[in-house]
Amino acid sequence: MSVQIDTSLEEIRRFRPSPEFAAQSVASESLYADAKADRLGFWATQARELLHWNKPFTQTLDWSNPPFAKWFDDGELNVAYNCLDRHVEAGNGDRIALHFEGEPGDSRSYSYAELTAEVKKAANLLTALGVRSGDRVAIYLPMIPEAVISMLAVARIGAVHSVVFGGFSADSLRARIDDAEAKVVITADGGWRKGKVFPLKNAVDTALEDGLSTVNHVLVVKRGENEVQWTEGRDLWWHDELAAVDADHVAKGFPAEHPLFVLYTSGTTGKPKGILHTSGGYLTQAAFTHKNVFDLHPERDVYWCTADIGWITGHSYVVYGPLANGATQVIYEGTPDTPHQGRWWEIIDKYKVTILYTAPTAIRTFMKLGRQIPQAFSLRSLRLLGSVGEPINPEAWIWYRHVIGGGSIPVVDTWWQTETGAIMISALPGLTDLKPGAAQVPIPGIEVEVLDDDGNKLEEGGGLLVINEPWPAMLRGIWGDPERFKETYWDKFQGKYFAGDGARLDEDGDIWLLGRVDDVMNVSGHRLSTAEIESSLVAHHLTAEAAVVGAADETTGQAVVAFVILKQSHQDEVTDPDEISAMLRAHVAQQIGAIARPREVFIVNELPKTRSGKIMRRLLRDVAEGREIGDTTTLADTAVMQIITSKVR
Ligand code: WTA
Repeated sequence: MSVQIDTSLEEIRRFRPSPEFAAQSVASESLYADAKADRLGFWATQARELLHWNKPFTQTLDWSNPPFAKWFDDGELNVAYNCLDRHVEAGNGDRIALHFEGEPGDSRSYSYAELTAEVKKAANLLTALGVRSGDRVAIYLPMIPEAVISMLAVARIGAVHSVVFGGFSADSLRARIDDAEAKVVITADGGWRKGKVFPLKNAVDTALEDGLSTVNHVLVVKRGENEVQWTEGRDLWWHDELAAVDADHVAKGFPAEHPLFVLYTSGTTGKPKGILHTSGGYLTQAAFTHKNVFDLHPERDVYWCTADIGWITGHSYVVYGPLANGATQVIYEGTPDTPHQGRWWEIIDKYKVTILYTAPTAIRTFMKLGRQIPQAFSLRSLRLLGSVGEPINPEAWIWYRHVIGGGSIPVVDTWWQTETGAIMISALPGLTDLKPGAAQVPIPGIEVEVLDDDGNKLEEGGGLLVINEPWPAMLRGIWGDPERFKETYWDKFQGKYFAGDGARLDEDGDIWLLGRVDDVMNVSGHRLSTAEIESSLVAHHLTAEAAVVGAADETTGQAVVAFVILKQSHQDEVTDPDEISAMLRAHVAQQIGAIARPREVFIVNELPKTRSGKIMRRLLRDVAEGREIGDTTTLADTAVMQIITSKVR
C-alpha cells in the first residue's frame, strides 16, 4: 500500500460561532477537560446520564484481550426501550418522533407513544415467528417508518438486524442473508423512487428462489401497491400479522455487549465485511455525538438526516442517536429531484427543519443546479448544518453555509466510518472556530493520531489516520471472521486501529481528511471496493481480465472506471465496443447494485503491470482522469500505457 497524500490548497477562512449560538450551546468546554482528565470516567458518566440501565454497570472498559473490547460489560439495557418507552414514561409521549414524507407526497407522523406501540406489536410478531435473542433478521426496505419500526423491534427482543440497502441487487441480498444466516426477511412490495415503484419483493423472491437459504419467513410491508408473487407459508403481509398480535410488550434488559446489528461494508477484497456492533457502548456514543455535535434541543429542534437506513449514517443518526435523545425528525422516502428539483428545500420549509445532516455529493449536485432552486423556499428555520461521507471541499462548504444556511450558521464536517459506529472527528458547533474543508478535532473522549508509513507519530503534515485508544461505539469484529478483523485494522500499526484514510495535521493540530489510501472507492459517499467490482466484471463470460479505479468526479467525488480485456474466444460475439461497455455496466449494476455501475468501461488489449504482475492502478487513474501519465519505469512493458491512452482518448 503506498500513501499518496495531496496537500490541499491553503484554506485560511475561519468562522467563529455567533454569540447567540454559543450562548445556547448544548456542549461546553468542560467536556474536553473532563475527557482529558479521566477518559474512561468521562464515558462512564455519559453512559449513565444518556441511557437507562436495567442493571447498572460497574466496569467501564475491558481491554484485556485486544482488539476485542468490552464496554460497560456487566451492565444491562434494552436499546429499544431507551429509544422509545422511556420518553413516553417521562411525559413526552405526544412529542413527534417521526415526520414521514413519502415521495408521492403522502405523509404520516408518529408520536413517541405511537412509535412505541408499533414497535411493541412488531416485537411480538417477530417472537411469534420464532425469532429469538441473538437470531438475525434481514431488513430490505425503502425509507419508510416501517424500516425504523423493524430495526427497533428486532433490537427490542435482543435479535440482530442486518439492514441491506434497497438499491442492492438480489445477489448482494442473498450473499448477506447467507453470511449472517438470517431467519426472517422484512421487505416491502415496493418503494417510490424517481416517480416510479421499484419492486423490492421481486428481488427477495429471486434471492430466495432456490429454497436453500436459512430464511423461514418473509414479512411484506404494503407500500408500492404493485403486484407481487406469493409463496404460501413463507410470505406474510406485515399489516395482517400486526393486526393479530398482542399490543403489549415488556422490554427486558440484555447485556451491554449483546450484539445489536451487523452491517456490511466494502473492504479491499471482494467479499463485503459484516461489521458487528453491540449495544451499550454503541448507543452511548451515538447518543452523545448526536446531542453534542448537532447541538440538539429535543423540545424544539426538528432534525433531518438524509441518509438511507441501509448505511451506517442511517443507523446511528436516523435511528439510534436521535431516538435515544428523544428528537423530532423528518424521514423522506424518495430522491431529491422528484417531482421537482426543490423537493428537499420544500420539505425543510414544510416541517421547519432546524438541523440538516447530509453528504457533500448532494451539496455539489445542488451547487450545479444553482441557488435559485433553494432560494424559492424559506430555509430560515435552519440553524445548523452537517456533512458526512467524504471530504467536503471548501467551496462546497462555503456554498452550503451561505446558500442553504443564510451565511451565518455553523457547518460541522463529521468524520467517521461504519466501523467506528459513531462520529469520531468533528467540530462542536458552539465551541469550535470552523475551518471550511476540515473535520478538525476528535470529539471529547476520542484519541487519534496521524502516523507516517513506519508508524511514527506526526505533529504536522500528511500521513495515515489511526485511532489509538478503544472507543465505546467501536466495531466488535467482523461477523464470523475474527482473523480478518485483526488483519484489516490492527496488524499494520500494532494495537492501533488503522482507518484506511489519509489525513493531514495543520499547524493548529486540526485534521484534514484526504480520502482512502487503500483500494476502496468513495462514490457519492458510499464505499465500493475495486476488487468486488473487478470480480463482478470477470464473472461475465466475455471478460478475461479487469481493473477498476476510482477517478475524481465533480459531483460524486469519485466515479468507478473500469478497464477490461475481453476473452479471445468470444471476440467475434459482439464487436461494437460501445455495446460491450453498456452490457458490462449493466452487468455490474445487476450483480451488485446500481450504485456500483461503472461510469465508463474501456475495452483494452492489455493492462499495465509491474514485473511481479501487480496491476498499476495509479497509471490507470491518470488515464481515467485525463492526466499526463505518471512514472512508468516499473512497468514490465512500458509501451502498454501508450496503447491504452490512444484507445481511451
Ligand atoms: C469517508 C460513513 C472525509 C472516509 C459515515 C471513511 C469521510 C469512509 C468523512 C467511511 C468526512 C466519511 N471527511 N472523509 N467527514 N466521512 N468519510 O463506512 O474515507 O460508509 O473511511 O461511513 O468515508 O465510509 P462509511
